[in-house]
Amino acid sequence: MERKIVVAGNWKMNMLPSQTGEFIAGFKGKFKDDRQVVFCVPAVSLSVAVEAVKGTNYAVGAQNLHEKESGAYTGEISSQMLADMGVKYVIIGHSERRQYFGETDEGVNAKAQSALGAGLIPIICVGETLEERNKNITLEVVRLQTKVALHNIEEKAVKNIVIAYEPVWAIGTGLTATSQQAEEVCKAIRDLLAELYNDSVAKAVTIQYGGSVNGKNAGELFSQPNIDGGLVGGASLKAEFVDVVNG
Ligand code: PGA
Repeated sequence: MERKIVVAGNWKMNMLPSQTGEFIAGFKGKFKDDRQVVFCVPAVSLSVAVEAVKGTNYAVGAQNLHEKESGAYTGEISSQMLADMGVKYVIIGHSERRQYFGETDEGVNAKAQSALGAGLIPIICVGETLEERNKNITLEVVRLQTKVALHNIEEKAVKNIVIAYEPVWAIGTGLTATSQQAEEVCKAIRDLLAELYNDSVAKAVTIQYGGSVNGKNAGELFSQPNIDGGLVGGASLKAEFVDVVNG
């Protein structure tokens, strides 16, 4: 089966709840039907977003979760809570969370298992820093991050995962990886899936590229054999998102 192009807009800490419904409604009828579009909005805007995508084939995603089901974790939100409100996807291990909130590969694994247990599709982010790329250890870094993130996740569940390759140096910088650089790493991730599981898993898993994707470069990136869409920050907050999705 052909893999679908999945394009997720990561709004990060942008846009007010009161602006969210109108913003999403503005895209109605503009995306190609064969695209899966996901709006990953701030937690406080999730319910408005879920309402706004009713009657469309867009989905809503969260940007983080807590791996425990419930309990004394003040300020946190569980996978079950997200699923209960109609959220379908959740970004896990974004480099900003790793950098500013101390997220580790082991934590990413715990969150991914929690998300899968609640029926959410985790978008697991991996990617090297500029220093790591310059040391020529990109593939080792990304393999390690991916391997730990998938630890103890069985074959049936892993097919529901999205992996987003996001080189840290390309995020929010305007420096996009070339389609060749992005394809090389996405292919290495797919090869790792074949190694850890089998060919059918490797063929089924959606692997996105993220990092300064825009309306001009999306088409070339998404047409690479191992790139099945993107995780998009800045451009997902503009009308340009239509060009990104339609690639
Ligand atoms: P960017 O962000 O598209 O603004 O580079 C991507 C991301 O952080 O997911």
